[in-house]
Amino acid sequence: MPKAWIQQRKKDYYYKKAKEEKYRSRAAYKLFQAIEKYHFMKSGDVVVDLGAAPGGWIQAARKVVGSKGFVLGVDLKSIEPFSQSNVRTFIGDLTKLETLEQILSALPGKADVVISDASPNISGIWEVDHARQIDLAEQSLKIALETLRFSGSFFVKVFEGDLLNNFIAKMKEHFEIVRIIKPKASRVKSSELFILGMRLRKGVN
Ligand SMILES: C[S@@+](CC[C@H](N)C(=O)[O-])C[C@H]1O[C@@H](n2cnc3c(N)ncnc32)[C@H](O)[C@@H]1O
Repeated sequence: MPKAWIQQRKKDYYYKKAKEEKYRSRAAYKLFQAIEKYHFMKSGDVVVDLGAAPGGWIQAARKVVGSKGFVLGVDLKSIEPFSQSNVRTFIGDLTKLETLEQILSALPGKADVVISDASPNISGIWEVDHARQIDLAEQSLKIALETLRFSGSFFVKVFEGDLLNNFIAKMKEHFEIVRIIKPKASRVKSSELFILGMRLRKGVN
Protein backbone atom coordinates (compact mmCIF):
# COMPACT_ATOMS: atom_id res chain seq x y z
CA MET A 1 0.00 0.00 0.00
CA PRO A 2 1.38 3.47 -0.80
CA LYS A 3 2.75 5.32 2.27
CA ALA A 4 0.65 8.47 1.61
CA TRP A 5 -2.49 6.34 1.53
CA ILE A 6 -1.64 4.68 4.86
CA GLN A 7 -0.98 8.08 6.48
CA GLN A 8 -4.22 9.51 5.08
CA ARG A 9 -6.14 6.51 6.45
CA LYS A 10 -4.72 7.01 9.95
CA LYS A 11 -6.13 10.54 10.03
CA ASP A 12 -9.55 9.39 8.90
CA TYR A 13 -12.28 9.95 11.51
CA TYR A 14 -14.19 6.71 10.86
CA TYR A 15 -11.01 4.66 10.62
CA LYS A 16 -10.02 5.83 14.12
CA LYS A 17 -13.54 5.36 15.44
CA ALA A 18 -13.63 1.78 14.10
CA LYS A 19 -10.30 1.03 15.80
CA GLU A 20 -11.53 2.48 19.10
CA GLU A 21 -14.91 0.76 18.99
CA LYS A 22 -13.38 -2.52 17.76
CA TYR A 23 -15.15 -2.73 14.42
CA ARG A 24 -13.27 -4.70 11.82
CA SER A 25 -13.78 -1.98 9.21
CA ARG A 26 -14.84 1.68 9.00
CA ALA A 27 -17.55 0.45 6.60
CA ALA A 28 -19.61 -0.58 9.66
CA TYR A 29 -20.62 3.08 10.06
CA LYS A 30 -21.98 3.28 6.50
CA LEU A 31 -24.42 0.50 7.36
CA PHE A 32 -25.31 1.97 10.77
CA GLN A 33 -26.02 5.39 9.18
CA ALA A 34 -28.22 3.94 6.46
CA ILE A 35 -30.20 1.85 8.97
CA GLU A 36 -30.58 4.83 11.28
CA LYS A 37 -32.12 6.84 8.47
CA TYR A 38 -34.28 4.19 6.76
CA HIS A 39 -34.95 1.59 9.51
CA PHE A 40 -34.65 -1.39 7.15
CA MET A 41 -33.14 -3.76 9.75
CA LYS A 42 -34.37 -4.50 13.24
CA SER A 43 -34.03 -6.75 16.25
CA GLY A 44 -34.65 -10.43 15.43
CA ASP A 45 -34.04 -10.11 11.67
CA VAL A 46 -32.34 -12.74 9.52
CA VAL A 47 -29.60 -11.03 7.48
CA VAL A 48 -27.42 -12.20 4.58
CA ASP A 49 -24.20 -10.20 4.09
CA LEU A 50 -22.54 -10.66 0.68
CA GLY A 51 -18.87 -9.68 0.29
CA ALA A 52 -18.61 -9.59 4.06
CA ALA A 53 -14.86 -9.77 4.83
CA PRO A 54 -13.31 -8.67 7.13
CA GLY A 55 -16.67 -8.45 8.93
CA GLY A 56 -17.47 -4.83 9.90
CA TRP A 57 -20.97 -5.04 8.42
CA ILE A 58 -21.49 -8.41 10.12
CA GLN A 59 -20.67 -6.78 13.48
CA ALA A 60 -23.00 -3.85 12.75
CA ALA A 61 -25.83 -6.15 11.61
CA ARG A 62 -25.37 -8.42 14.65
CA LYS A 63 -25.62 -5.38 16.90
CA VAL A 64 -28.94 -4.41 15.28
CA VAL A 65 -30.52 -7.89 15.10
CA GLY A 66 -29.32 -8.91 18.59
CA SER A 67 -29.31 -12.39 20.06
CA LYS A 68 -32.67 -13.38 18.50
CA GLY A 69 -31.61 -12.58 14.92
CA PHE A 70 -29.20 -14.34 12.58
CA VAL A 71 -26.37 -13.05 10.38
CA LEU A 72 -24.81 -15.06 7.57
CA GLY A 73 -21.67 -13.63 5.94
CA VAL A 74 -20.16 -14.81 2.64
CA ASP A 75 -16.92 -13.74 0.97
CA LEU A 76 -14.22 -14.99 -1.41
CA LYS A 77 -11.83 -14.53 1.51
CA SER A 78 -12.03 -16.27 4.85
CA ILE A 79 -13.55 -14.26 7.70
CA GLU A 80 -12.12 -14.54 11.19
CA PRO A 81 -14.78 -16.40 13.22
CA PHE A 82 -17.20 -14.62 15.55
CA SER A 83 -17.95 -15.76 19.08
CA GLN A 84 -21.74 -15.35 18.80
CA SER A 85 -23.60 -18.53 17.87
CA ASN A 86 -26.08 -16.66 15.65
CA VAL A 87 -23.35 -15.40 13.30
CA ARG A 88 -22.12 -17.76 10.60
CA THR A 89 -19.72 -17.24 7.72
CA PHE A 90 -18.41 -19.25 4.83
CA ILE A 91 -16.08 -18.80 1.88
CA GLY A 92 -17.98 -18.50 -1.38
CA ASP A 93 -18.18 -16.67 -4.68
CA LEU A 94 -21.49 -14.84 -4.90
CA THR A 95 -21.50 -15.20 -8.69
CA LYS A 96 -21.69 -19.01 -8.40
CA LEU A 97 -24.96 -20.96 -8.19
CA GLU A 98 -23.50 -23.29 -5.53
CA THR A 99 -23.07 -20.25 -3.24
CA LEU A 100 -26.79 -19.51 -3.45
CA GLU A 101 -27.48 -23.14 -2.55
CA GLN A 102 -25.10 -22.91 0.43
CA ILE A 103 -26.79 -19.70 1.61
CA LEU A 104 -30.24 -21.28 1.37
CA SER A 105 -29.17 -24.30 3.38
CA ALA A 106 -27.42 -22.19 6.07
CA LEU A 107 -30.38 -19.83 6.68
CA PRO A 108 -32.84 -20.60 9.48
CA GLY A 109 -35.69 -19.28 7.27
CA LYS A 110 -36.31 -16.59 4.69
CA ALA A 111 -34.07 -13.55 4.96
CA ASP A 112 -35.51 -10.23 6.13
CA VAL A 113 -32.59 -8.22 4.76
CA VAL A 114 -29.81 -8.87 2.23
CA ILE A 115 -26.83 -6.49 2.29
CA SER A 116 -23.96 -6.43 -0.20
CA ASP A 117 -20.77 -4.40 0.07
CA ALA A 118 -19.05 -6.73 -2.42
CA SER A 119 -16.43 -4.94 -4.47
CA PRO A 120 -14.04 -6.07 -7.19
CA ASN A 121 -10.29 -5.48 -7.03
CA ILE A 122 -10.00 -1.91 -8.29
CA SER A 123 -8.15 -1.71 -11.64
CA GLY A 124 -8.07 2.09 -11.74
CA ILE A 125 -9.77 2.03 -15.14
CA TRP A 126 -13.03 3.75 -14.32
CA GLU A 127 -15.29 2.08 -16.92
CA VAL A 128 -13.97 -1.37 -16.01
CA ASP A 129 -14.42 -0.88 -12.25
CA HIS A 130 -17.90 0.59 -12.70
CA ALA A 131 -19.01 -2.33 -14.91
CA ARG A 132 -17.57 -4.94 -12.50
CA GLN A 133 -19.23 -3.25 -9.54
CA ILE A 134 -22.62 -3.16 -11.25
CA ASP A 135 -22.18 -6.80 -12.20
CA LEU A 136 -21.60 -7.74 -8.53
CA ALA A 137 -24.64 -5.64 -7.55
CA GLU A 138 -26.75 -7.51 -10.12
CA GLN A 139 -25.51 -10.89 -8.92
CA SER A 140 -26.28 -9.79 -5.35
CA LEU A 141 -29.79 -8.77 -6.44
CA LYS A 142 -30.31 -12.27 -7.86
CA ILE A 143 -29.37 -13.79 -4.49
CA ALA A 144 -31.65 -11.30 -2.71
CA LEU A 145 -34.58 -12.31 -4.92
CA GLU A 146 -34.01 -16.00 -4.10
CA THR A 147 -33.65 -15.53 -0.34
CA LEU A 148 -35.79 -12.59 0.81
CA ARG A 149 -39.26 -12.82 2.27
CA PHE A 150 -42.13 -10.77 0.90
CA SER A 151 -41.57 -7.09 1.83
CA GLY A 152 -37.89 -7.67 2.71
CA SER A 153 -35.08 -5.18 2.03
CA PHE A 154 -31.88 -5.16 -0.04
CA PHE A 155 -28.99 -2.71 0.48
CA VAL A 156 -26.18 -2.81 -2.09
CA LYS A 157 -23.04 -0.92 -3.07
CA VAL A 158 -22.66 0.48 -6.58
CA PHE A 159 -20.28 2.89 -8.30
CA GLU A 160 -21.61 5.91 -10.15
CA GLY A 161 -21.59 5.57 -13.92
CA ASP A 162 -23.70 5.05 -16.99
CA LEU A 163 -24.89 1.53 -16.09
CA LEU A 164 -26.37 2.72 -12.81
CA ASN A 165 -29.73 3.94 -14.14
CA ASN A 166 -30.42 0.57 -15.67
CA PHE A 167 -29.63 -1.13 -12.34
CA ILE A 168 -31.92 1.28 -10.48
CA ALA A 169 -34.71 0.53 -12.98
CA LYS A 170 -34.29 -3.20 -12.19
CA MET A 171 -34.46 -2.45 -8.48
CA LYS A 172 -37.71 -0.53 -9.02
CA GLU A 173 -39.25 -3.56 -10.76
CA HIS A 174 -38.77 -5.59 -7.60
CA PHE A 175 -39.02 -3.13 -4.69
CA GLU A 176 -41.80 -0.66 -3.93
CA ILE A 177 -39.37 1.87 -2.46
CA VAL A 178 -35.90 2.51 -3.92
CA ARG A 179 -33.45 5.07 -2.50
CA ILE A 180 -29.94 6.18 -3.47
CA ILE A 181 -27.83 6.71 -0.37
CA LYS A 182 -24.43 8.29 0.26
CA PRO A 183 -23.76 7.72 3.99
CA LYS A 184 -21.61 10.29 5.78
CA ALA A 185 -19.00 7.60 6.44
CA SER A 186 -18.56 7.05 2.67
CA ARG A 187 -15.64 9.16 1.44
CA VAL A 188 -16.77 12.18 -0.57
CA LYS A 189 -14.09 11.50 -3.20
CA SER A 190 -15.25 7.91 -3.67
CA SER A 191 -17.74 7.23 -6.46
CA GLU A 192 -19.46 4.62 -4.28
CA LEU A 193 -23.15 4.92 -3.56
CA PHE A 194 -25.62 2.51 -2.00
CA ILE A 195 -28.98 1.55 -3.40
CA LEU A 196 -31.66 0.53 -0.93
CA GLY A 197 -34.71 -1.42 -2.02
CA MET A 198 -37.49 -1.74 0.56
CA ARG A 199 -40.76 -3.70 0.45
CA LEU A 200 -39.91 -6.49 -1.95
CA ARG A 201 -43.00 -6.94 -4.12
CA LYS A 202 -42.81 -10.73 -4.34
CA GLY A 203 -40.78 -12.73 -1.84
CA VAL A 204 -39.77 -16.37 -1.82
CA ASN A 205 -42.73 -18.70 -1.25
C1 LIG B 1 -15.33 -3.52 0.73
S1 LIG B 1 -15.05 -5.19 1.14
C2 LIG B 1 -16.39 -5.52 2.24
C3 LIG B 1 -16.21 -4.91 3.60
C4 LIG B 1 -17.24 -5.39 4.60
N1 LIG B 1 -18.58 -4.89 4.30
C5 LIG B 1 -16.90 -4.97 6.02
O1 LIG B 1 -17.60 -4.12 6.56
O2 LIG B 1 -15.95 -5.50 6.57
C6 LIG B 1 -15.56 -6.01 -0.33
C7 LIG B 1 -15.48 -7.52 -0.27
O3 LIG B 1 -16.14 -8.07 -1.41
C8 LIG B 1 -15.57 -9.34 -1.62
N2 LIG B 1 -15.94 -9.87 -2.94
C9 LIG B 1 -15.61 -9.39 -4.16
N3 LIG B 1 -16.10 -10.18 -5.13
C10 LIG B 1 -16.77 -11.20 -4.51
C11 LIG B 1 -17.48 -12.34 -4.98
N4 LIG B 1 -17.60 -12.61 -6.29
N5 LIG B 1 -18.03 -13.17 -4.07
C12 LIG B 1 -17.88 -12.93 -2.74
N6 LIG B 1 -17.21 -11.86 -2.23
C13 LIG B 1 -16.66 -11.00 -3.10
C14 LIG B 1 -14.07 -9.06 -1.47
O4 LIG B 1 -13.37 -10.26 -1.23
C15 LIG B 1 -14.05 -8.08 -0.28
O5 LIG B 1 -13.78 -8.74 0.91
